Amino acid sequence: MSQPDLERAQLDPTALSARDLYFLLTSIVVPRPIGWISTVGASGVFNVAPHSYFNAFSDDPPVVGFSSLGVKDTLRNTRHTWDFVANVVSEDLAAPMNISAADLPPQESEFTWASLTPVPSVRVRAPRVAEAKVAMECRVLHILELGRTPSYLVLGEVLLFHVDPQIVRNGRVDPALLRPVGRLSGSGYSRTADGLFALRRPSWADLRDRQPPLR
Ligand SMILES: Cc1cc2nc3c(=O)[nH]c(=O)nc-3n(C[C@H](O)[C@H](O)[C@H](O)COP(=O)(O)O)c2cc1C
Repeated sequence: MSQPDLERAQLDPTALSARDLYFLLTSIVVPRPIGWISTVGASGVFNVAPHSYFNAFSDDPPVVGFSSLGVKDTLRNTRHTWDFVANVVSEDLAAPMNISAADLPPQESEFTWASLTPVPSVRVRAPRVAEAKVAMECRVLHILELGRTPSYLVLGEVLLFHVDPQIVRNGRVDPALLRPVGRLSGSGYSRTADGLFALRRPSWADLRDRQPPLR
């Protein structure tokens, strides 16, 4: 495998292979949240696979999205039903999440292999993962094809949130209770609940009578 020249201050993406770009980008954009995307195929097999090209993009309406690097079962199923469920991976689910990333043939369900329980969703055909503390039932809004080695960005509107009451404190989901896992590059992961800190965002009124630069 060729290594991108990390001595260089500037790296031209058009000069890098798809593989090198993958390792470069996934080591820079870190940690990434993991959308554990559950779907159902045309033959009725339940599928679930982690996607760390995942984020939220809008809150009213709530829109989340994931990107499939190439055409995989998750994307095929999503195109078929036009829906998916984005489940959150807490620390206690890291091991089954990892099993569910194996390249199982389409007729095999990751739910079975990873000892996960599929629960029928209320508003979509895709099942949710019973063990996940948060699950978001989503209807697809757009599927965008990106690039020369195509990825497929799937954007979905959240039609229903499922939230375990045990992770709610003072009316909000508490990340210290949710304990989501973050993805780094390769087989690296991060915990979110350790080392949490808070910053109060300043307003212009807080800053205007002081001299920059501020520390
Ligand atoms: C933590 C983690 C994050 C991943 N993120 C992505 C991703 O964002 N996009 C992608 O296409 N594959 C991603 N993968 C790989 C897929 O999960 C893997 O290819 C899986 O077999 C796809 O399953 P499917 O064929 O059932 O859709 C990730 C794997 C892991 C372990």
